[in-house]
Amino acid sequence: MAKITVNPAKSAGTISRYIYGHFAEHLGHCIYGGLYVGEDSPIPNEKGIRSDAVEAMKALKLPVLRWPGGCFADEYHWRDGIGPLEKRRRMVNTNWGGVVEDDSFGTHEFLELCRQVGCEPYITGNVGSGTIQEMSEWVEYLNSDGDSTIVRERRANGREDSWGVRFWGVGNESWGCGGLMGPDYYADQYKRYQNFCRQYGKNKLYKIACGPSDGDTEWTEVLMKKAGKFMDGLSLHSYTVPGPSWNEKNRATVFTRDDYWETVAKAARMDRLIRDHGEIMDRYDPEKRVGLIVDEWGTWFQVEEGTNPGFLFQQNTMRDAMVAAVTLDIFNRHCDRVYMANIAQTVNVLQAIILTKDEQMVLTPTYYVFDLYKDHMDAKELECRVEADEGGSGEYRLKKVTASASEKDGKITLTMSNLDPDAAQDVTVRLEGRTVKGVEGRILQGKVDAYNDFGNAPLKAEPFSGFEIGADEIRVHMPACAVATLNIT
Ligand code: AHR
Repeated sequence: MAKITVNPAKSAGTISRYIYGHFAEHLGHCIYGGLYVGEDSPIPNEKGIRSDAVEAMKALKLPVLRWPGGCFADEYHWRDGIGPLEKRRRMVNTNWGGVVEDDSFGTHEFLELCRQVGCEPYITGNVGSGTIQEMSEWVEYLNSDGDSTIVRERRANGREDSWGVRFWGVGNESWGCGGLMGPDYYADQYKRYQNFCRQYGKNKLYKIACGPSDGDTEWTEVLMKKAGKFMDGLSLHSYTVPGPSWNEKNRATVFTRDDYWETVAKAARMDRLIRDHGEIMDRYDPEKRVGLIVDEWGTWFQVEEGTNPGFLFQQNTMRDAMVAAVTLDIFNRHCDRVYMANIAQTVNVLQAIILTKDEQMVLTPTYYVFDLYKDHMDAKELECRVEADEGGSGEYRLKKVTASASEKDGKITLTMSNLDPDAAQDVTVRLEGRTVKGVEGRILQGKVDAYNDFGNAPLKAEPFSGFEIGADEIRVHMPACAVATLNIT
């Protein structure tokens, strides 16, 4: 028997909607084939952008999309992707599969995608192989309405008014694929580059510095100390990689129970990472003005057999759904510092929410977790204490129940998961100082290695009534391997 206690009198603050953000890189079939098929494609599209994918993203109320990378961002030169299609420069995507990139999806196409989805853009500029002038002019092209040559060029390319892009990344993984820099060197570079990313009129940038990988607290320390006051956000990248090493990662659909517990326990380390980096940030920024931007997270398994190793295509099972639930609950609880997070990546890459094969599309279990969690966006976080037995063994142990809660417009949203892959659990939910009038539930459940495939997609979020409402508690019968949302009035 597990117990969840929600205390509506205690809150870490508002859960930023941007925690439910996503990431789309020029990598494998995320952009080409996944989100963009071109206007001449027989696949239904508007201005070349796949309509089925847009509809799926709109249904999630997807708040923000990060682009063009990733590692790709630091070899991307934005001018290659504007103007008439036939004149666009071709390049080889050296990071991802060595394929030819024809740059048919560029700035205008990305911002059109965001318009269709109804989300905000988050663009990462090139520090690794680009100049300050190049980055500065990209911002001008996007955000200025002055009568400059750059703005005239934008207008000649069909866009009259500035877009007003707000979220602006200054390099990606500058400690790695973005230039192999040390923290001191990058902090200086960050200050130079961001200085020339101008604020145009009402179009104010939210500037995001490249932050650490996983537990690299030295990077955070140096960045906060040297450049903290010049940034609005600091990124953090952390992937869940079960297996003995990066080269011997688990397979996405074939794994043991031990592999499963290792995966979810590793995902839960996000909590420690946020606390460790958060403590350093608190020292330099006690008001928590600088947001922690976890702009790459999710599972990273072996690629599926027979696929290009550079395309990072992996299937997505209920194990991924559990990783998403554990991680999103952690982000909710740390909403006083985590302002944005972007799961990697939206379509066909790593922990994707959407998979496509030519004209077919399936939604993954991870998609449905985002669907079940969407009411947390912009809601007030509520303290949520969980008492439950532990699962797993050795260093990979964690509570078998994860949960988080929030309140908006008089309605409490409680998301809760039974991580046990084999056994159902009864969970008693208590709301301190409140009486429960009504509860509506939805649930995603399935075998831990089940997944949605083309032509066979059994997993989805469905209505849930496996609970009884008592005077001051709700008794929930959670099936094995399940993620549920309770909307409580
Ligand atoms: O998401 C795939 C890659 O992982 C990104 O390009 C990079 O930033 C990270 O190493």
